[in-house]
Amino acid sequence: MPSSIPAAAGRRARTRPKGVPGPWGIFFKGFVKHPRMVGSIIPSSDALIARMLGPVDWASCKLFVEFGPGVGTFCRPILDRMAPDARLIAIDTNPDFVRYLRHAIVDPRFAAVSGSAADVETIIADHGHEAADYVLSGIPFSTLPDGVGESVASATHRVLRPGGAFLIYQVTTAVRDVIAPHFARIDHAMEWWNIPPEQLYWAWKD
Ligand SMILES: C[S@@+](CC[C@H](N)C(=O)[O-])C[C@H]1O[C@@H](n2cnc3c(N)ncnc32)[C@H](O)[C@@H]1O
Repeated sequence: MPSSIPAAAGRRARTRPKGVPGPWGIFFKGFVKHPRMVGSIIPSSDALIARMLGPVDWASCKLFVEFGPGVGTFCRPILDRMAPDARLIAIDTNPDFVRYLRHAIVDPRFAAVSGSAADVETIIADHGHEAADYVLSGIPFSTLPDGVGESVASATHRVLRPGGAFLIYQVTTAVRDVIAPHFARIDHAMEWWNIPPEQLYWAWKD
């Protein structure tokens, strides 16, 4: 990965005009505006990120999709690990987060999209892709409107290539029932080093 990419991202972050909130401010405002949609008041910890991304085979990853990137806590670690010719598409329902991400992350491999995870098939097709290798989700399944979680789970299964995986971190275990009808093999772990501690799932498309 060329060293100029993170440097460019850093430059953009440093040129943020006075009075414009940083990532923590934007995230907190997002939580106050849409508490059920954002679901957490604090972005994910480094420990959670490293553990969640641990099983990813970066060499075989051409398209990584993230649902609910918020202010990009996972986006930078994903871009750091991704190959130079891979792509990251981050989809969030909150247009304030998407606007922030487009300003803060300057990387030709990255696209931030305003929309719902349930529409992932159309979104990746619009970006010229047929299938995703990995999909990561931080969206709060237990507080989503009725039916949205099921739509997200089935659309994600369809969009993954065989051998790909759906990576999920959640406060509760309720999401397991939502994904189990689609994924036969689901690995699970618990990450305590996060506020709050989270359930981690890796659902594999065989
Ligand atoms: C707990 S925050 C996760 C933030 C960040 N990924 C992190 O780890 O710190 C949940 C995010 O999911 C987004 N979200 C909620 N419902 C969504 C949906 N149906 N599609 C895409 N994003 C959604 C919210 O706007 C919010 O940014």
